[in-house]
Order: sequence, then C-alpha cells, then structure tokens
Amino acid sequence: MRPTVIILAAGLGTRMKSSLAKALHPVAGKPMLLHVLDAVGGTDPERTVVVLGHQADRVRQALAGYPVETVLQEQQLGTGHAVRQAAGAIAAATGPVMVLCADTPLLSAATLRSLLDVHGKKKAAITLLTAIVDAPQGYGRIVRSKGGVTGIVEEKDATAKQKKIAEVNAGIYCFRGDFLLGALGGLSNRNAQNEYYLPDTIALARKKKLRVESVVCSDTDEVMGINSRQDLSRAERFLQDRTNARWMRDGVTLLDPATVFIGPEVTIGRDVVLYSHTRLEGATSLGEGCVVYPGSRITDSSLGSGVTVKDHCVIDQSTISDRVSVGPFAHLRPGTVIAVNARIGNFVEVKKSVIGEGSKANHLSYIGDATVGSGVNIGAGVITCNYDGFTKSRTVIEDDVFIGSDAQLVAPVRIGKGALVAAGATITRDVPPDALAITRVPQENKEGVAGRRRKMLQDKKAAGNR
Ligand code: UD1
Ligand code: CA
Repeated sequence: MRPTVIILAAGLGTRMKSSLAKALHPVAGKPMLLHVLDAVGGTDPERTVVVLGHQADRVRQALAGYPVETVLQEQQLGTGHAVRQAAGAIAAATGPVMVLCADTPLLSAATLRSLLDVHGKKKAAITLLTAIVDAPQGYGRIVRSKGGVTGIVEEKDATAKQKKIAEVNAGIYCFRGDFLLGALGGLSNRNAQNEYYLPDTIALARKKKLRVESVVCSDTDEVMGINSRQDLSRAERFLQDRTNARWMRDGVTLLDPATVFIGPEVTIGRDVVLYSHTRLEGATSLGEGCVVYPGSRITDSSLGSGVTVKDHCVIDQSTISDRVSVGPFAHLRPGTVIAVNARIGNFVEVKKSVIGEGSKANHLSYIGDATVGSGVNIGAGVITCNYDGFTKSRTVIEDDVFIGSDAQLVAPVRIGKGALVAAGATITRDVPPDALAITRVPQENKEGVAGRRRKMLQDKKAAGNR
C-alpha cells in the first residue's frame, strides 16, 4: 500500500541559534529537508505533505520541483499539533500514514520501507522506529512493558530513571489513518513544554488495546536528529564519508578522505587523484586521470581527462579541456574556457575568456573578456585592461602571438596572428599580423654615471667615520 507521508518542518530549531529555519540548514550541500524527501521518494508515496511554519516562504521555495504539497502550522504548538494541520490528507489516505521530521537527513529509503513492511504485516495502529544509542540525551525515551512499547517520555518530562533508557524515539512512525485522526483530537499539552506531543498517541493506542509495533534501526547514525550545530557537523561528516567511500569504490584515489568534500551532483572519472582539502562542488565533472593537488575548490566546472590542478586554485563555472595544467594559485572565474594542452600558471586570473589550444599564461596575469587563439604565449604580468570604469570591452589575441612581459592590452583591441608585443608595451591600437608592437621610450646609457655616484657615496661615508 502506498503511504501518505507527512513531514514536520515548521520548527525554527531554537537550539541551532540561527536565523535560518532548521529544515533549510544544508548538509553535504543540500537542505536537510530535501535529504528526507529523497529517502521518502524511495517509498513511492501516494501523497507527501510538508508542514511549514517558520520561514514558510523560503522553505516552500526550496521545495520547488519536488512532488509535495504544503500546509501551514501558524503557531508551533508541538509535533502532534503539527500533524493535525494535515488532517485532510490523513482522512483521504488509502494506505498507511507515515510521519517524519525534517531534521533526520541521514535516513535511508530502505529503513522507511522496512518500517512500512512491518506496519503492514502486523496490522498495527502504530509502528514506530527506535534506536539504541550511546547518548540518548535530548530524545524521547521508549518505555516498554513485557517487551511491548507502552509509551514515550520526552527528555524534559523524564524521571532520572527514565533518562537512563538507551532506546530512543527516532521521530518516524507509521499510523493507521483513522486511528491517528482520532488520537490527534485526544492529545493534551499538560507536560513540561506545554506542547501537543505526537508520541503521546502511543499511550492512547495502548489504552484502546490497539497494536503498537516497533522496528529497532540497527544503524544509529541514520536516525540521528539534528538539533545543534554539533549534530550538524556530525551529519556532514557522515554523509561525506559515505560519498567519499563510494567514489573510492568507483576507482578514485582520495589521499586524505577526511578533508575532501565531493558534492552530490559531482561526477568523477577513473584514476582521478584528489589530494587533501579538495572541494568539488555543484555540477562539477572530472574526466579520467585528473590530478587535483591540495587546497583547491572547483565549482560548477567541467574538466576533461588528464587535467592537472596544482595547489590552491579556485575554479568556478569554467570548462577545461584534456591535459590542461592549472595553478598553483590560479583563479578561473565564470565563463573561462580552456582548450587542450593549455597552461595557466601561478597567480593568473581568467574571467569570461577563451584560451586556445596549447597557449600559455604562466605567471601573474589577468585575462578578462578575451579571446586567445592557439599557440599564444602570454608573458609574466600581462594584463588585459577590459574595464574603463563604465563598460567592459574585449581583447582578441590571434594564433601564435607572443605577448612580452608586463604588457597592458587596453580593450577593445586585436593582436593579429603571429604578432609580437614587446615587453612593457601599453597597447591601445590594433596590431596587424606579424607586426612588432613596441611602445617604449628609447633607452639612454650614460657612461660612468653609476660608478661616479658610488665613489661619491663611499667617500662621504668614510669622511663621516673619521
Ligand atoms: C522529537 C520527539 C522525540 C524524538 C525526536 C527524534 C516529540 C514531542 N518529540 O523531539 O520523541 O526522540 O523528535 O529526533 O515529538 N515541529 C513542527 N511543529 C511544532 C514542533 C515541531 O513542525 O510545533 C517539527 C520540527 O520542525 C522538527 C520536528 O517537528 O522537524 C521535530 O521537532 P523537534 O523540536 O526537533 O523535536 P525533538 O525535541 O527533537
Ligand atoms: Ca529534533
């Protein structure tokens, strides 16, 4: 039977001490609510309702593209009250009603499916997911009698003895819809937090002698609820470890996986080597045999095969072809396209520019809004002056051009094929093919001047010492 799913996401998450609603805090680059929705997707739900409250508009925006409906819980009066906001969906459900919280991002679809399976087979009114954990603090504790669950007691309502119970409520349940609807009306808020607790439905079921079943989740990480920044960092670590392990299985070398971040949309070819402190973010792809040395961040970029990224580069929205070498300390900004075998060296910044096959810019350059042909050599310290304070203009450098060190190319300007720009030139007009462009003041050598100056200073120093 396909479940009707209710996800509780109305809380602010006070313990996060944040202005951002808890459901939107990212784990592994994605809001935690969306991780929960991905797991829910694996149960083929009949309908999914997300209960919104704090920052409802922002959460709704984050849900764009997901097949869900939303309802609003105007005041956060507790998890039981939150579920009541979805009463319409519960009444219409043809199968079981599964309730989850938005703050358990590590949950897997397989665990949800096994919960649904037990719930269906045992014909229970409630089947809840529990876990036996080392640190139960903060969770509702499972109270059992003769093996069966008789109730859940929240941390703030628990006696010292109950606080020692290591079995906790994961906050994930399957209900028979008709029972749930009735039980929600019977909840009271007489407890330490003056909230309507959803877990109180269990004691109500027992009172009515209805069946309450439980599934103990063996993977305690999976049911971890994120309530604080510390929980958040642990979840982040867990997901990164899982992703990194998968890439290693698929033939990628990670020399220090604890420091490597690989986003969920990233693709990586075989025999890629990632050194420590590498971050691959967004829609990034790396072809076979790339090597990324320590300390680089690559976002929304595509790298061909055999690309070398030397230490400490920032690469954003760029397309890099096979066998290119980038860095160390290069900054490739959006719109950079680099053709095969080109080299971008240290302290070079490239923006919205095309660099042709085999061209080189090895040292201390800014290349912005430029089209650079193939076989071009860009000397140390060359700058394209693309901005006059009002508009951006383009620089075109045709094939086989040599630009001497420290030249400035004042755009718009075109350097013709095979031309030579002398070191230190300030180019303000187009250079024809095969021409030499030079803008220097002629050099003058004054014979003996440096020698005479040195002798004068030495004599003066000697006189002072006497
Ligand atoms: C809850 C459970 C606890 C369980 C734990 C598992 C209750 C009373 N307690 O505690 O037994 O061990 O989860 O992680 O249910 N929410 C709303 N509206 C509200 C209140 C909460 O939508 O009025 C949402 C929150 O946004 C959150 C979820 O419900 O996604 C759980 O709320 P939270 O405050 O984190 O509950 P816990 O104290 O962790
Ligand atoms: Ca929680």
